[in-house]
Amino acid sequence: MRLTGRLAVAVVGVSALLAAAACSSDSGTSGSSAPKEVEVFTWWADGGEKAGLDGLVSAFATDCANFTFVNGAIAGGAGSNAKQVLASRLTQSDPPDTFQAHAGAELTDYINAGQIEDLSQEYKDWGLTNAFPKGLIDNLTVDGKIYSVPANIHRANVLWGNKTVLAGAGITQNATTLDGFFADLEKLKAKGVTPLALGKDWTQLMLFESVLISDLGADKFTGLWNGTTKWDSADVTKAIGDYSKLLSYTNKDTRDTFDWTDAEKLIMDGKAGYQLMGDWEAADLDAKKFTDYNYTVFPGNGQTFQWLADSFVLPKGAKNPEGTKCWLKTVGSAAGQQAFNTKKGSIPARTDATASAFPAYQQAAIGDWKSQKQVPSCAHGSACSQGWQGALGSAMGKFSSDGNATALQAALVAAAGQFAKK
Ligand code: GAL
Repeated sequence: MRLTGRLAVAVVGVSALLAAAACSSDSGTSGSSAPKEVEVFTWWADGGEKAGLDGLVSAFATDCANFTFVNGAIAGGAGSNAKQVLASRLTQSDPPDTFQAHAGAELTDYINAGQIEDLSQEYKDWGLTNAFPKGLIDNLTVDGKIYSVPANIHRANVLWGNKTVLAGAGITQNATTLDGFFADLEKLKAKGVTPLALGKDWTQLMLFESVLISDLGADKFTGLWNGTTKWDSADVTKAIGDYSKLLSYTNKDTRDTFDWTDAEKLIMDGKAGYQLMGDWEAADLDAKKFTDYNYTVFPGNGQTFQWLADSFVLPKGAKNPEGTKCWLKTVGSAAGQQAFNTKKGSIPARTDATASAFPAYQQAAIGDWKSQKQVPSCAHGSACSQGWQGALGSAMGKFSSDGNATALQAALVAAAGQFAKK
């Protein structure tokens, strides 16, 4: 067919427009076409955390070839820096396309503030409704709506040790009670090493939570967060005493400035015996090629699994909701969870994962997660709101410098009074 002059001009015009549209969709977020870039906001900037994120990014590249990952990570353990930046971006209506949030009370903060979208329909579309344990789904749900996709389950109450340092102090078996632990810390002290490496506020809160689990037991510990256990009880007083004694075995001069990786370095350098830290430490030690370590549940915690879960959300006003949905679908997929968790030290949130596909640490954790009693973590948002977490972090920091047990317990009581759900 021959085109008439006017029609030919029109066809050329349309092709030019289409070409221009294709061009601008290639060039990121500019122009009127759909954006390509997906800004993923985390605090996973280095070591094992970055390795985990990289695993997820490679799965995203396969699943979502039309979109480009943009790394919005801000370094600092437990989001100590990232969360402040995120809060100010959300206030200014400048959200990233997605951000990490802990399942439980921390996520509820964002839901109640109206900052994130309901993903219930996506759960149905992607077949996620039965992919995760019911208890976890409950922690992602408010008023029947599900707001985030969990990437993993981490364990908080793990004690890591330098094998050579422990053997040098004559410790051949890890203690299972607080008393046994104090005896071992004494042996390490006699060898001139730091018995227990510790970092700042949130890592101190983690250590204190582990002591609370030992002294109160799992059920009463959980009760601290739902109002059924009182913070002014004698059990809590005893836990503060035990925690105070533990502090005397730590790196006093540096603990209030150290991040968890600085404390971990004392273990790697053979300058400390033990460190209490979540199981992202397994991934980080592996990423740093340090193999001379062992791990055990914190002494006295017995069959208690203190859990937390990283999840990803779709913020209201995200620039690229379609790209974010593709990211979230990858996060929830079996392949995405495998790629992420083999490198992150955590275990898949999905119930259909094959344990044998994971490193030895995670294989053990997969078994423990199923068989042990689960309790939440305030330092990592599953137990308490961000306001409560901040108040406890400051109280621990203050106690680290003034050692005033009465003032600490009063601060704990006050924080519960202010932040616990009435
Ligand atoms: C937690 C987070 C973990 C790990 C850790 C240390 O809050 O859930 O994935 O990143 O902080 O930064």
